This record gives sequence, structure tokens and C-alpha cells, in this order.
Amino acid sequence: MITKCLFPVAGYGTRFLPATKSMPKEMLPVVNKPLVQYGVEEAIAAGMTTCAMVTGRGKRAIADHFDISYELEHQISGSGKEAYLKSIRNVLDKGVFTMVRQREMKGLGHAILTGEPLIGNEPFGVLLSDDLCLNTGPGVLAQMAELYNQFRCSIVAIQEVPKDQTHKYGVIAGESLKEGIYRVDEMVEKPDPKDAPSNLAIIGRYILTPDIFDIIRETAPGANGEIQLTDALQTQARRGCVMAYKFEGRRFDCGSVPGFVEATNFVYENYYTED
Ligand code: G1P
Repeated sequence: MITKCLFPVAGYGTRFLPATKSMPKEMLPVVNKPLVQYGVEEAIAAGMTTCAMVTGRGKRAIADHFDISYELEHQISGSGKEAYLKSIRNVLDKGVFTMVRQREMKGLGHAILTGEPLIGNEPFGVLLSDDLCLNTGPGVLAQMAELYNQFRCSIVAIQEVPKDQTHKYGVIAGESLKEGIYRVDEMVEKPDPKDAPSNLAIIGRYILTPDIFDIIRETAPGANGEIQLTDALQTQARRGCVMAYKFEGRRFDCGSVPGFVEATNFVYENYYTED
């Protein structure tokens, strides 16, 4: 049973400036819920009730969001407005939140390694909240946790993307074991379309086995001069096994303004109900 999920939430959110000048990008609301809360709800629904946040300077609003606001509780208690707190109260009832600060931005691999003290020696989930994934059935992390029980190795979520988009993603190639499940033998971070081994792009959901920490420690900086999780996973795949899984559900790239607007419209139309 995987009980912990790591949330790298230290990034700057430059594409959303000036909105993100003094507010974490993860707190931008998709309709009426911060982006990161969608991710936390997905993790908790998958049984990963310990949410380990790798934060940074200027991210205190995230820690406050996953805590009680006494003043607000007091003001709203007994009023008709209590329903507005329902979703976050539910998250606080079920989840435990741990935090560590990443002092320097040295890439996703480095962020994961910074979270090691919060995880320890056990398999764990990783959720990049920029990728908002919605499904009518089980969430993506729940689908992957189920798969982990079968394969007992690291798993990355993948999606087909247009070939000219591969430079935005980690891209995998591998042998298809059955519909939607691949055994990875190659992984490249942000390849030019001409160098991409396929159009199967990694989406921000992972299950990682804890040997990844030692591998990251020995991984040299790669694309953009950053320590890349994709490079560490390539090593893990070569030494043992990494699976890739085409998930069920719809993914929105909330790290880009058009993706964020698309997600907002979709959630408003499909999930939002006025009181
Ligand atoms: C990160 C990963 C990349 C992955 C992507 C998914 O990149 O490094 O492999 O495809 O997330 O969103 P980023 O979007 O942080 O540049």
C-alpha cells in the first residue's frame, strides 16, 4: 500500500505573472478550488494520505491552505456558508501534510531528492499539480497504485502528444506488454521532435521506488542544466524496470495559460454547481 505522495511545488510560475508575483501558482483557482487541492484530492483518493510538499520561498499560502483557519471557521460556523468549506474540510480530515523547502531550483530530480526525508524507504507517488487530470472513474494515481501492486517497480503516466510537442515533455519508448502498458527502454527529457523516440509523453504522475533517491544523487545535470527525474528513471529502467501507463481520463496542461483556461471552462461546465 502506497501511503505517501510527493508534491514538488517550489516552481516560480513565470508564465502566469503578474498573478504569481506574490502568490504561488499552485494556489491559482480552477473555478473555485486551488490547482494544488485537485492534486491533493486525487492523491488522498488513491490512499496516499500523507502529502509531502516540497515548497520554496514565497509558498506559505500552500501550508496555510492545508491547515485550519480558525477565524474563518468561527465566522462561518452555523451559517449557510459552511458548505463552501466542505471540500477543504474533507481534505484536512483525511490528509497529513508535511513540508520541506527546496532552497535552490535545480530541476525536478533535485526537488524529488529534497523530499527524501519526508518519504523514507518506501514506494511513493509524485504529482505535478500543473497537470490537472480528471476522470469519471478512479483518478490517475489510483489507477497507477493498482498497477504498482502488479509490477512493483516505478511507473510513469504517459499520453500521446502531437510529434511537434515532444520538446515540452519527457518522452519514452518501450515494448508494449498489453494495451496501454509499456516496459520502458528509453527515456529522453524534452527531445526535439526529430530526436524523440516516440510521441508518448510523460505526464505529471509517477509512482517511484525509493532506490530512485540514490540514482538521482548520482545523476548529472541534463536538459536545461537541471537534474532531471527523467534521466534518473532512464538509469532505473536500464538497471531494473520502469513501466509506462497510458492513463484513463483527461489531462489539462495548467502550466500554460491556454490549458488553464481550458481546464477552467471544463470544470465549470462539468463539475461546478451553484448553491
Ligand atoms: C516535467 C518533467 C517532464 C514531464 C512534464 C509533465 O517537466 O520533467 O518529463 O513530461 O513535467 O508535465 P516540466 O513541465 O516541469 O518542465
